[in-house]
Amino acid sequence: MTSFAEIIDRTTADELRARGSWKWAKGGPGVIGAFVAEMDFGVARPVEEALLGVIERRELGYLSQRASDAMAAACARWQRERYGWEVDPERVRPLPDVITGLAAAISVFSRPGSPVILPTPAYMPFLTWPATLGREIIQVPMAADGGRYVLDLDGIAAAFKRGGHLLVLCNPSNPVGRVYGAEELAAVAGVVEANGGRVFADEIHAPLLYPGGRHIPYASLSEATARHTVTGTAASKGWNLPGLKCAQLVLSNDADAVLWAERGFTFEHGTSTPGAWAAAAAYRDGGDWLADVVGYLDGSRLLLAELLAARLPEIGYRPPAGTYLAWLDCRGLFAARGIEENPADFFLERGRVLLTDGAACGDAGQGHVRLNFATPRPILAEMVRRLADAVNGR
Ligand SMILES: Cc1ncc(COP(=O)(O)O)c(C=O)c1O
Repeated sequence: MTSFAEIIDRTTADELRARGSWKWAKGGPGVIGAFVAEMDFGVARPVEEALLGVIERRELGYLSQRASDAMAAACARWQRERYGWEVDPERVRPLPDVITGLAAAISVFSRPGSPVILPTPAYMPFLTWPATLGREIIQVPMAADGGRYVLDLDGIAAAFKRGGHLLVLCNPSNPVGRVYGAEELAAVAGVVEANGGRVFADEIHAPLLYPGGRHIPYASLSEATARHTVTGTAASKGWNLPGLKCAQLVLSNDADAVLWAERGFTFEHGTSTPGAWAAAAAYRDGGDWLADVVGYLDGSRLLLAELLAARLPEIGYRPPAGTYLAWLDCRGLFAARGIEENPADFFLERGRVLLTDGAACGDAGQGHVRLNFATPRPILAEMVRRLADAVNGR
C-alpha cells in the first residue's frame, strides 16, 4: 500500500498551485508559498465524509445546537484523552476562529482600556488586532537561554506593573515553535496571579507536537490558572481546516461562563455549520491522519536542519518542538554577506520563495523569517536551494 509520505512526496508544485490556495496563489506564478500557516497535505477522510454529509443533508444554515454540541463534545473528549484536561462540553463554545477568541478575551474578560501583554516574536495578527479594539500592546521580547527562546518573566511582570491586564500565551508558540513545560507554565501562573492578570491561552497548534513533547493546557495546571484563563483552540491547524471557520473557546470557571452567557453570542455567531461538523469529525476520528501528518512533519523539520547545514550554515535554526513553522535567524548570514535588505523581501525577489517577514512578529523578529515546512519534501529541498542560490547571487 502506498504510504502517506509517498503520496505527499509525489505532490508537485503545479498541482498545489492548481488547488488555488492563498498559500500558493499569493506570490504569483513560479513563487513557492511558505508564508501562511496552511498545510499542503489534503484533507483527512473523516473530515471529507463529514462535509459530504453536510451537503447531502443540505445543512448549510446557521449553526444549530446539534452541530455545536457535536463539536463541543468531540473537542472536550480530545482535551481529556490527549491532554488529561477535564472540560465540560457546555463550556466549549463555538467561535468562527481563534482570533475572534482573542477579540472576545480582550473585550469581555480584560479590564476596559487595559494594554495587552504580548511575548514576542508572536503570531502576526496578535500585534495588529488589539489596536482595532483600541488597545495598546506591550511587547515583551522573549529571552534566549542557550539558543532556546524562553518567556521573560521579569518583563511580563513589568508589563503588568505598567497596567497590562491580559497576557497572550501561545503554546505551542508560533513562530518560535516552543512547547512550554509544566515548570515554565507554573512560573507564568505565579506572575499572573501576583498581578491579578488574565491569560488568553492560544493552543491552536497543540495537535502538532513532535515525539517526546507533551502539551499541557495552561488552564488545566491549577485552580488559579482555570480561574484566570480563557483558552482558544481549533482543529484548523492540525487538520488544515482554517477556511471552514470554526474554533473553540474553552471557559474554565463559573464567573466566565456567566459573563459569556450574557455577552458571548456576538462572538459565537459567525461559526460555520460545515466547520463545526468538520471539527467534530477531526477531533473524533482524525487521529490516524494526524499521526501520519506529524510523522511526516517530524522528518521534515529535521531534513530542513540538514538542508540548511549543507547550503546555508550561517542561518540560525532550531527544529521546533511543535508547529510546522521554522523560525530562521538570518542576521549572521546577511551581515557576513553584506546584504542589507529585509530577508523576506530579499528571498522573494531573488529566490522566489514567499516567507513571513519576522518583523511582522514584533520588534524581536527583525532579521528573521518564518518558513512553513508543511509541504512535500522535494519542494522543501527546492526552497532551500532557491534561498541558497539567492544568497550566492545565482
Ligand atoms: C498561534 C495562532 N493563533 C491563531 C491563528 C489563527 O487562527 P484562526 O484562523 O482560527 O483565527 C493562527 C494561524 O496561523 C496561529 O498560528
